This record gives sequence, structure tokens and C-alpha cells, in this order.
Amino acid sequence: MMTVFPDNFLWGAATSSYQIEGAWNEDGKGESIWDRFSHTPGKIVDGSTGDVACDHYHRWQEDLELMQSLGLQAYRFSIAWPRILPQGRGQVNQAGLDFYDRLVDGLLARNITPFVTLYHWDLPQALEDAGGWPDRATAEAFVQYAEVVSARLGDRVKHWITHNEPWVAAFLGYGMGIHAPGARDFQQAAAAAHHLLLSHGWAVPVLRANSPEARVGITLNLTDVVPASPSPQDYHAARELDAFLNRWFLDPLYGRQYPADGMAWFEREHQVQPHFVKAGDLETIATPIDFLGVNFYTRHVARGPAEGNLPPTITTERSEFTEMGWEVAPRSLFRLLNRLHFDYQVPSIYITENGAAFADQLSADGQVHDPRRVAYLRAHLQAAHDAIQCGVPLQGYFVWSLMDNFEWAFGYTKRFGIVYVDFETQQRIVKDSGLWYREVISRNGFDAKG
Ligand code: FCB
Repeated sequence: MMTVFPDNFLWGAATSSYQIEGAWNEDGKGESIWDRFSHTPGKIVDGSTGDVACDHYHRWQEDLELMQSLGLQAYRFSIAWPRILPQGRGQVNQAGLDFYDRLVDGLLARNITPFVTLYHWDLPQALEDAGGWPDRATAEAFVQYAEVVSARLGDRVKHWITHNEPWVAAFLGYGMGIHAPGARDFQQAAAAAHHLLLSHGWAVPVLRANSPEARVGITLNLTDVVPASPSPQDYHAARELDAFLNRWFLDPLYGRQYPADGMAWFEREHQVQPHFVKAGDLETIATPIDFLGVNFYTRHVARGPAEGNLPPTITTERSEFTEMGWEVAPRSLFRLLNRLHFDYQVPSIYITENGAAFADQLSADGQVHDPRRVAYLRAHLQAAHDAIQCGVPLQGYFVWSLMDNFEWAFGYTKRFGIVYVDFETQQRIVKDSGLWYREVISRNGFDAKG
């Protein structure tokens, strides 16, 4: 039995600038918070940096060939803000714009639709020095950045994503110290989250003005939160975790303001006071968008009572885990997509990231056999397909990632690619999952078993 997708379903792969580009200080690029963070001893588990990464900045043509050989119909990448505005605002670096200009033309020449993410976490260090995302002025700087980029690329780029995973940028970056810039202050993190959302709302009309037929959206990391047991404590913990992980972003984006239970949780657990919310902000954040990008990797099982930064979570004995320690939970993708459809009436959804890290190795036969990734992708695609059957307006899917890359605080220790990268030689080798995905794209589906 074939699982077949709708005719216009879009098949893609995703990357981000800091994770693949390298060339961290070339052609006028300014320093980013990830340059600073990775250059700080002790922040990245293997002591590595993104200085070279996949060297995509120099190998972009080869990488375009690779995308074409896989049959990709769309490619989601991000733009490094400090390449465009080395100081975050003010002076524009034309060489930075030129790079993405060539990349976009190269994609279009190969019939690959570019999906551009403006912010995938590499904030110019100069803006961080001036206060970073906890400071409202950073949201204002983002608008200039969106203006400059869309003025240059808006004639050809028709799909814009303002932010990637503002939850991660705000709470791992400013709340838990795991990501750049490494702060540990929930008041600051909540302010950062608000300013990320605010900057999104401000940027939407700018993108529309410079790119008239474009579709504009935002990408959230969303999850399916389930209580560990039917106990009232676990149910309550699940509701609060859902408020923190999902609704804190979905509710204001879809015009419902910040959720009251999330507000109470922030205040009780982290003494957060929402005085960063100014009159009119929530209207700005709720500016209508054309699509929601969903990054889905795992589910969360909640057990009460909540304590610490995150309420504790558990999983079942039968669960399978990836190298990230994340539970494989494809039915949760089905549940999440239906929830977005029914609870928020999201008119158009793309899965902008989904994938898994496994300990891939180059075999003696010169291939990379990654059957667990194939199984992961197949199960999640089946869940996505089932959601479409239930009426969910899912329009495309981007596998994370096109190729192995710098996995943030995990450095090069986690491989998410459907293409293997030998970081010594920069050789790219299509994994079995990449070959399988190519087949899926060419058939617009796959054999349900096999
Ligand atoms: C997401 C990020 C992406 C990558 C994957 C594994 O949170 O958006 O850059 O790190 O996780």
C-alpha cells in the first residue's frame, strides 16, 4: 500500500546559517553571539566551534548540486544577520547580501523554492552587548534587518520565516544558559521571548511591502504534552508545561494574549513580572500570518508537582530514544497537527523541521546505513499524511537536516543529516535515508511497509 501525498505537497530540507556556513569572519561579517559563545571554553561539549562547520559559505555550489541530486523541491535556510549588518544595525555589508543573492538565484535555477528564515539564533554580538533580546531596541533593529534583506531578495524569495523557535532562543539562551548568550535569568528570558514575538509582528508588514506576493510565517518548536498518569497532579503539570512550551507562543500569535496559567506559572516558579508588555504589543504580535512553521522532534510526558526550571518529565519503558535522548513519538505529531487545526484554525502549516540524530558511521562499503532514521522519517511522514486525511492544511515537509552540521551546544557530536559530512575532508556522502527521501519525493509518497 502506497502512502501518497497531495499533488502540490512540497518536499524540502532545512539548515541554518551558523550550523553550516563557517567563514565566521570573512567578507565583512560581524561577530555573532554564537561565535562568542562557541569561542568561550566549556560552552560546547566537544570544544568545537562553527568557524568552519560544513564550509557551506565556500561550497554552496556543490551543496546546490547535492540538493538537486536529491530532488529537493524546497530548501529552508537562514540568513546570518551579522553578515548583512555587522553591527546589528546601521551600516549594510553588501558582500553579505551578495552571498545570499547568489544562493537564491542558484536555487531558483534548479527549481528549488527558497524558504528564508531571518533569525535562526545568530544575533550580532554588538546588539547583545547593547542588551540583546531582553532589550526592546533589539526588536527595532530586527525590523531594519528584515527591511534590508527583503528589499534585496524579496523579488525572488516568496516564503519568509521571521524567527526560528523563539522559545529556544529566549529560554535556552537567556533563561537556562545552554545556548548563546548563556544567561540564566527567567525575567530576561521572558522579556526576550516577548521581544522576539514583537519583532516578528513588526517585520510582517515590512516583508509584505518588499515582497508583495510572498507568504510570511514564523516557526515554533512545538510538542505534544501528555500527563504521565491520570492523576490530577500530572494533569496539572501537563497543562503548565503545555502553557510554557506551546501556548506561550501560539496564544499571542493567534490573538488570544498570553495564557493566564502560563503567566501564573512564570510568576510562581520564576518570579517573572510581565512589565515588558506595552500597550499595543499584543495586537502587533497577532498580525495575521500566512502559515505556521512547525518544528517537531519529540513529545513531553509531564509529572507533577512542577519544580525547578522545567517541570520533571518521564517516559515509558518501551520508548525508543534518539542520540539526543529524545523519545520517538510520531503519533504525537499527528495529535499536535490536529490540535493546531482544531484549537487555532491555523490556515496553512509547514513542518519546517523534523528529523533525528543517530550515531551514523561510514561503512566499509563507503555508504552510511541509517535504518533507524529511515524508520523515524517514515513514521513521522505517515503521521503527517494521516493528519492531512483529517483535514489539517499541511502543505509541506522539511527534513532536518540536509546534512550533518554544528548541533549548537553539542558541537559535532550529533548527526542529523540525510547527508553525511566528513568534517575532516568536507566530503558529503548521501546516507541511506537521503536515498530513501529522494525516492519519497520522486513518488510523492512511499510504501507504507518497506
Ligand atoms: C532545532 C533547531 C535546529 C536543530 C534541531 C535539531 O531546535 O531549530 O537548528 O538544532 O533542533
